Amino acid sequence: MEQRKILYGGDYNPEQWLDEPEILKQDVQYMKEAGINTVTMGMFSWAALEPVEGEYHLDWLADWIDTLYGNGICTILGTPSGARPKWLADRYPEVLRVEGDRTRRLFGGRHNHCYTSPVYREKVRKINMLLAERFAAHPGVILWHISNEYGGDCHCPLCQKAFREWLAKQYGTVEELNKRWWTAFWSHTYRSFDEIESPSPIGETECHGLNLAWKRFVTEQTADFLEAEIRALRDAGAKQPTTANLMYDFALLDYDRIARSIDIVSWDSYPLWHKKEDIDTALDNGMQHDYMRSLKKQPFLMMESSPSMTNWTKVSKVKRPGALTAAGIQALAHGSESVLYFQIRQSRGSSEKFHGAVIDHSCRNDGRVFREVSELGKELEGLAEITGSEVSADAAVIYDTENRWALEDARGPRNENLHYHESALKSYKALRHRGLNVDVIHASASLEGYRLVVAPMLYLFHNGFAQKLREFVEQGGSFVLTYWSGIVDWDDRCFLGGTPHGVMDVFGMRRTETDALYETERNLLCPAKGSFMKGSYECRYLCDLITLEGGRALMTYGSEFYKDTPAVTENCFGKGRAYYVGADAEQAFYDELYGYLSRQAQLKPVVRGTVPEGVEVSGRNSDDTTYVFVQNFRNRPADLRGMGLEGEILYGRSRETLEAYESLVLRVSHKQKNLPADRKNVSSEPASGCL
Ligand code: GLA
Ligand code: ZN
Repeated sequence: MEQRKILYGGDYNPEQWLDEPEILKQDVQYMKEAGINTVTMGMFSWAALEPVEGEYHLDWLADWIDTLYGNGICTILGTPSGARPKWLADRYPEVLRVEGDRTRRLFGGRHNHCYTSPVYREKVRKINMLLAERFAAHPGVILWHISNEYGGDCHCPLCQKAFREWLAKQYGTVEELNKRWWTAFWSHTYRSFDEIESPSPIGETECHGLNLAWKRFVTEQTADFLEAEIRALRDAGAKQPTTANLMYDFALLDYDRIARSIDIVSWDSYPLWHKKEDIDTALDNGMQHDYMRSLKKQPFLMMESSPSMTNWTKVSKVKRPGALTAAGIQALAHGSESVLYFQIRQSRGSSEKFHGAVIDHSCRNDGRVFREVSELGKELEGLAEITGSEVSADAAVIYDTENRWALEDARGPRNENLHYHESALKSYKALRHRGLNVDVIHASASLEGYRLVVAPMLYLFHNGFAQKLREFVEQGGSFVLTYWSGIVDWDDRCFLGGTPHGVMDVFGMRRTETDALYETERNLLCPAKGSFMKGSYECRYLCDLITLEGGRALMTYGSEFYKDTPAVTENCFGKGRAYYVGADAEQAFYDELYGYLSRQAQLKPVVRGTVPEGVEVSGRNSDDTTYVFVQNFRNRPADLRGMGLEGEILYGRSRETLEAYESLVLRVSHKQKNLPADRKNVSSEPASGCL
């Protein structure tokens, strides 16, 4: 059986260099030196694969796949739909995207095609089938990379028609749609589905039901396009698994839906290292890794990351020594089976010529970046045994795209700076600081297997969510819900009869009003008498006013006309406990709260001792082993002696200290004591055939 390995390498674009064979020859040599075993090719190759309509040139790609395979390098093969050749746009203008203001775009850029256009779908199907026919059986092609970073919407007539058909299926009758979209407001009642137009800056923007439905449709249409791409590959005999590369905190698509269309989730990780404290950047990036892993609850791939600087921010810093390695190991710690870069060779011209690359314009193999890439390449060989191991968590943070759409669209107590991402991150950080693995899940995900679930600002309750929450707590779970939650239903209509809707008895309280604070204003959370909470904490942005109905106050407000009224509450319900956090508190509040809750809910941290400031800890389990990852993301040494680390060193140097950006991976046998040995869903089976 083939030795399992961590996929190491990244995007490679030989089509830019076909007239420079010497360069390409050198690249292969350098890739081998760097320990690269995988490249992603073909994503932006359409013009080289089909320079003229119907004239196909696949030989250069076949040669490249063969040459690389002969050198021990596998290919993740991209379908080219993310950017199209000029002839296609010229001959079939319907493939070009139409903006919300109804202007059709010209040729150029990428990611700007219509997802509905039958012509575009047909052309993509044809080229995908040809690629599959040629490479389905190639042992060097291990995975299909479908398109590139799907995103955006198209408002062309074809998309309008598809939208109306989709609405008719969703709502049945236009009367039902009118009711659920509340169109009597401002006399916006529709008489038939045919009258409905997508939201537009020159038309309707204020009907929240329409806005939400449009976003759902765009996701559905993108998923449908993605599935059509995959169908073309399968119809032509391709058996390899599929992936699509997702993006950081991307709000234009509901990835929960997209992930269902692919076999393996992958994403492009470009944190802005060295901008603030790197531990904060690492935790934010870690939350995103966990979000991607949780989409399918299985290992994922880090499809892209920069070997050094990016070039699309106002200021793009080079990665400090050690940061590349730390970022690579971090992906593995959170469940990635790969460390892949954009890009292997830097292009000479056009808009990404200064983006970091393994091989830069110097064409040398002795630069700082190349050396660090090569060192990590060697180290990863020693970490191959972690592949197939899984991250399991008994705590989850709900971070839900549909909720975010509704929340950020609402005209409510705050119409900017709602800080949804930050509010999820605060709970996430506090839990991670307790040394806990954390899943980041959508509201529609199952809560089974978790002991603690946190739902920050869950403004929109999906159908059935209140019942799921109720059962979770009844059966012994701990649930934390924060301010401005349970306000609207699936169509963004306000619930009647009090909020958080359907669970007021579970939380033993009711929200009566929500106050908004100006940017500079603060209130205070003060411990209530007899509360396990001891500190006082600032809160800002939003403050829910709360009436107790059976629950007890853990904290009360420190000022305003609602001074001394409940701000944070606890209620015992069934065998579990429900906590409501009424205001946007500072980080230290969450640190104290989850310190208590993780003990009370008997959560099992990856390590027994205390996690020092600046350090991130994660665990991956296989049947008989836990791999403990300890990483220092601060630019000064960290003392690990209080962590109670055990096990053999699989990677790294010392169990006592970590230098800046240094990492440690320990192999702990389940027979040893400090193990979360009873974790569920642990399997030694590889998560996918390709990895
Ligand atoms: C994205 C794309 C790549 C490249 C990088 C640059 O992730 O997928 O093609 O443009 O950004 O950071
Ligand atoms: Zn369209």
